[in-house]
Amino acid sequence: MKKIICYLLIAYPLHRATAQFEPNYDERKVPEFEVPDPLTSFDGEKITDTSEWENTRRPELYRFFEEQVYGKVPGKLDSLFFNIVEASENALDGKAQRKQVEVSLFKNGKSLAFTILLYLPKTGKPSPIFLGYNFYGNHTITDDTNVIVSQAWAMDNTEFGITGHTLTEASRGVRTNRWAIEKIIDGGFGLATLYYGEVDPDKNDFSDGLHSLFYKEGQERPKNDEWGSIAAWAFGMSRALDYFETDPDIDSARVLSFGHSRLGKAALWAGASDTRFAGVISNDSGCGGAALSKRKFGETVGRINTSFPYWFCDNFTEYTENEEALPIDQHELLALIAPRPLYVASAEDDQWADPRGEFLSARYASPVYELYGKKGITSNQMPEVNSPVQNTVAYHIRTGKHDVTHYDWEQYIAWAEKMVK
Ligand code: GCU
Repeated sequence: MKKIICYLLIAYPLHRATAQFEPNYDERKVPEFEVPDPLTSFDGEKITDTSEWENTRRPELYRFFEEQVYGKVPGKLDSLFFNIVEASENALDGKAQRKQVEVSLFKNGKSLAFTILLYLPKTGKPSPIFLGYNFYGNHTITDDTNVIVSQAWAMDNTEFGITGHTLTEASRGVRTNRWAIEKIIDGGFGLATLYYGEVDPDKNDFSDGLHSLFYKEGQERPKNDEWGSIAAWAFGMSRALDYFETDPDIDSARVLSFGHSRLGKAALWAGASDTRFAGVISNDSGCGGAALSKRKFGETVGRINTSFPYWFCDNFTEYTENEEALPIDQHELLALIAPRPLYVASAEDDQWADPRGEFLSARYASPVYELYGKKGITSNQMPEVNSPVQNTVAYHIRTGKHDVTHYDWEQYIAWAEKMVK
């Protein structure tokens, strides 16, 4: 008997812990919750015009996301340098211009560098561009042998021939399927990409990457309200934008921040924290990105804080298995991008990212767009698969899995042509 009681005492908490993290994929089990109103301030004031939004509500929402979710950037860089390390007028069979630009960041006597790969259409005019991170190095997005292989730490991936956390020729071109470069160029846009591992390696280790530049004497990790990896990646996108402002071939007022999955979360935070971005595209960004947290469908705050605690600031653990306590939800992150164009996309087989939660988030952000006379998502009904709704706030759910496809890019290009060209 003693043994059984002892077993029960030990097994119960374990069982509870695993049960908590069992993802819910059943719409009927989504808890009832109140959607925080983006147009009512924390102290209950109704927000009725854009000036109240910009002076009262947006700042308080922004502050919440900054201090409780993604974390604050702890200071300013000492200096920043750009160096065009390679360029060609004859890329992609003569169709495009290619540039590789090294961006060096300096702080507290330390430095970090990352390389932007750019393809620009040869239109003779400054080009609008899509800017997005890649997961395995700039050389993976194209077969172009001129693209420099990064020496930064990389996640191992045997399918892509990446071992020992080192990128080599073996992985050149392995991700061409995710980057519709020719379509982007033919649409009159440029593409800029960066390898996220050069800005902050994707591992639970704060000794390296961007964070380490900002430490005070003896500091080893960010403070509770300071940046995790998503905010560091967003900061890197803004430094790329600093470069674009100096390049006459780029129209820096028409840069769209783009990202898939964890990098979609970064693209959203970049667009929210840096209003110079002309618009944002979130591809399957899911939990901590476009998807509503309070639905607890697929990945939850508890789950993401367990698997990837370093993506967010430490304060965010307050909401682990405690989404009810959040005074905000992710639609308010989307609302921070208003009135700039915003595209949220999902994939039917990507239930982990909660497509319905991503759609509703775009819908619930829309009243802020309407305050500016912009059209958001006007229906509570999700569109059919492969039937995009493209207003200033756009949404589609396509068939297929968690990925970026040519279908996705065709939608982004067509929409961007209407929005920023
Ligand atoms: C994991 C993680 C997601 C993330 C995804 C990705 O699935 O749980 O939050 O979006 O990785 O980046 O591919």
